[in-house]
Parts: sequence; C-alpha cells; structure tokens
Amino acid sequence: MGKQTFDGDRILLRQMETSDVDSCVELHSAVLGVEFIAKAGKSFLRSYYLSWMATSTSVSLVACIGSDVKGVLLGTYDPKTHYQEFTKGSGSKLAYEMFKASIIHPAFGVELIRTRGIRYLKGILRILRKKKEDSNTQLSGEVEEINSAELTHLFIDPREQGKGIGQQLVNKMTELCIEKSVQRVVCVTPPEFRARKFYEKIGFKDMGTTSSKSGENFVRYELEI
Ligand SMILES: CC(C)(COP(=O)(O)OP(=O)(O)OC[C@H]1O[C@@H](n2cnc3c(N)ncnc32)[C@H](O)[C@@H]1OP(=O)(O)O)[C@@H](O)C(=O)NCCC(=O)NCCS
Repeated sequence: MGKQTFDGDRILLRQMETSDVDSCVELHSAVLGVEFIAKAGKSFLRSYYLSWMATSTSVSLVACIGSDVKGVLLGTYDPKTHYQEFTKGSGSKLAYEMFKASIIHPAFGVELIRTRGIRYLKGILRILRKKKEDSNTQLSGEVEEINSAELTHLFIDPREQGKGIGQQLVNKMTELCIEKSVQRVVCVTPPEFRARKFYEKIGFKDMGTTSSKSGENFVRYELEI
C-alpha cells in the first residue's frame, strides 16, 4: 500500500462524472501537455473524455479533495469492446475535432499527418462505409489482449504528487478488474518518463520496449492481479 497521507475522508476516489471533465482537461493539459492528444487542445480533450466515459467497459476515475480533482485515471477493463464502442460512438466526432485542432494548431496538424495520417484516414473511411470495426481502429494505437485491462492515462496534480494518490487510483482500478475477472493490467509509458519508477514501485513488471503503430517508443508494463 502507498502512503496514507490523507485523512480517511479527505481524499475521495470515485467514478468520473460529466461535471468533472473540465477539471480533468485542465489538469491533463497542465501535467501531460507533451502528450499527443493534449497537443490537440482542450476542446478535443473534452470530447475525448466524454467519449471515453461513454463506453460500457471504460474505467474513468478521479481522486478529489473536496470538490477539486487532484488525480485522474483512464483505462478500460475490456480494450476490444471499449475501442469498438469508442470508435463507433465517437469516431466521426473526434475526427472532426482533430481536423479543427489541426487548423487551430498547425504544428499538431503536421504531427498528426506524419505519425497517424494514413492509419486514421483508413479508420474514418471504415466508419463512413459503416463497416464492422476491428481492433486496428483503436485511436490509442495500443495492442489489446484478452483478459488484460489497459491503463491509458494516469496523472496527479503536481502539488499532490508523492502522497499516495496515484497508487490509490491504480488500486481502485485493480479492484474493478477483479470484479470483472480480469487478471492483468497493461500500460505503456515513454522511456524517459519518471513514472517508470512509480510503476515499478507499485508492482508493475517492465516487459521491454515496444513501439506504437504511430512509431513512438514506449516501455510496456504489466501488473498481474
Ligand atoms: C507518476 C504519478 C502518476 C505517480 O502518482 P503519485 O501520486 O505521485 O505516486 P504515489 O505517491 O502513489 O507513489 C507510490 C509509490 O511510488 C513511488 N514513486 C512515485 N513517483 C516516483 C518517482 N518519480 N520516482 C521514484 N518513486 C516514485 C512513491 O515514492 C511511492 O512509494 P512509497 O509508497 O514506497 O513511498 C505522478 O507522479 C504523475 O502524475 N506524474 C506526472 C504524469 C505522468 O508521468 N503520468 C504517467 C504517464 S504514463
């Protein structure tokens, strides 16, 4: 268990609600601004969060002190179903938001075309043709596996880091996974991120370097539950 720095009722872990999304987006932009989807801007992020929350197998958690969001975890305990629903339900809207973001933030547009252009275009065409989705349409580009949950985003307000909130959010996700009989949580992080120490400290195993379909290098971590 991580440090229990907070009084029992001071830190509250709960499901993310629509009313949390603006706070999550602000925190996401501030803490993980270097990440690809954050570069698309807050309007895109807002749509992304709402779309994520809307699927039947997403894990969307916040850690709050009072009414303030201090930590966010996004994931899914069934990646295949999640990305199918995510793409079907929100693919066109997110594609439109990305197009808008490319106009507003040209540097983002260049990166989008360079790293994801062809893959996303194929995904959009699939949606337009109303073809049955397959796992290749995942916007995250990460590989999903049967019986593995995916932790895709985790970040804590810098003023509250190191106080056990990250670990509590991961613990909450593993509780949900156990309820769903999922035995493993998978995540990836850029090799240079200090978060690697965190994952190792809380029991994740370094499974080596992998690269996403967009060509970025990551270290893959797995936690056996
Ligand atoms: C990584 C992050 C989510 C960890 O959350 P946190 O609330 O700060 O971590 P916790 O306090 O729960 O730490 C749990 C354990 O990991 C250790 N740990 C956390 N960050 C660490 C680091 N950078 N280096 C070494 N150990 C670390 C803690 O010391 C603690 O161990 P202890 O219980 O023995 O003291 C948070 O620091 C963060 O938001 N970082 C920036 C965003 C980011 O990199 N997210 C991951 C993207 S893939």
